[in-house]
Amino acid sequence: MSAFPPVFSVVAPHRTEAGGLALESPLLLAPLAGVTIPPLRLFYSLLGAAAVHTEMISCAGLRRANRKTAAMLDILPGEAPVIVQLFAGDTETMLRGAETALEGTSFRAVGINMACPMPKVLKKGAGARLLENPGTAFSMVSSLSGLGLPVWPKIRKCPPGYPLTTEEFCRGLLDAGASLVCLHGRTPAQRYSGEADREIVGAMAAKFPEKICASGDVYTPEQAADYLRRGCRTVLMARGALADPFLFARTLAFLGYDVHNSYRNPSPDFQMSLLLHFGDSVCGYCGPRMAVLFVKRLLSGMFRGVRGIGGLRRAAARVLCWTELRGILERCDAYFERREECSGCTI
Ligand SMILES: Cc1cc2nc3c(=O)[nH]c(=O)nc-3n(C[C@H](O)[C@H](O)[C@H](O)COP(=O)(O)O)c2cc1C
Repeated sequence: MSAFPPVFSVVAPHRTEAGGLALESPLLLAPLAGVTIPPLRLFYSLLGAAAVHTEMISCAGLRRANRKTAAMLDILPGEAPVIVQLFAGDTETMLRGAETALEGTSFRAVGINMACPMPKVLKKGAGARLLENPGTAFSMVSSLSGLGLPVWPKIRKCPPGYPLTTEEFCRGLLDAGASLVCLHGRTPAQRYSGEADREIVGAMAAKFPEKICASGDVYTPEQAADYLRRGCRTVLMARGALADPFLFARTLAFLGYDVHNSYRNPSPDFQMSLLLHFGDSVCGYCGPRMAVLFVKRLLSGMFRGVRGIGGLRRAAARVLCWTELRGILERCDAYFERREECSGCTI
């Protein structure tokens, strides 16, 4: 990644102390199962994420020494501080899994998933099921806080009928030793649809100053800034950052950071060289099939407003082989029109 300039033109002007870490900004890459693999985290680190999350990792899988699960603990050189996110349905499994996860690795904080609404996680008593079982949730936090790293549970808004309100749940987590509570303003029943409740996230940020990390509906710099204005310490970028990988840089610029022009106004050439580098890195890490999947996923949101991108996307859609896709992307000139009108510098 060293071929690309750093995202900040000058050394980041100030640091954000958050959740026991000193970060370059308050903008973090969210945990995204099946998505936040090491090459993708490295890509977003380059694009301005101040810290990145792993996918949620099964503590039961770690305890069984499952090879696939253990591989999820990899960190690549150059990544921003990495938070490992774990899930389990009981405290003993969580603690043993965390001990395994932290052996010989350089994670900077431990996340606990108390937010996942998917049935296969809920049926293990994990994820959002813990919102219905506060005693277990709090004991997980207090046992992990003995391991020496900041503990960052991630929860959702607690709907009526749950044992505790969102405020009571946040207080319980903080009293148990959590350094930061990541709060997604949707209920478990909402899963990922409907609007995230910014009011509840803001209200918790007001109640627990410097302790809340916001999540939910961050698609624009203004939406991220709104959470910060409400007092949230940090913001998780999730689907918005997948839809627009330059959302980090645009938001940093919006917040007043001195962002390198290559990222603030990325030229198609610059974007393409980043995308090719990313694809090569995914290919080297987990093979050509995954490179095709990941690159196509990002391609659909990149190059917004570039004339001819539709043709490039259609050509890419048909391809299943990374070498072939790489060739098509390298010949993007054949698709992009009126390149002379695009502003921004090339590398
Ligand atoms: C594909 C996908 C995978 C996700 N995986 C996780 C996960 O592993 N752990 C977690 O805490 N949240 C996970 N989330 C939730 C996100 O971290 C985030 O809280 C959520 O998408 C709300 O933010 P948004 O509305 O800005 O996308 C996932 C979301 C999506 C869309």
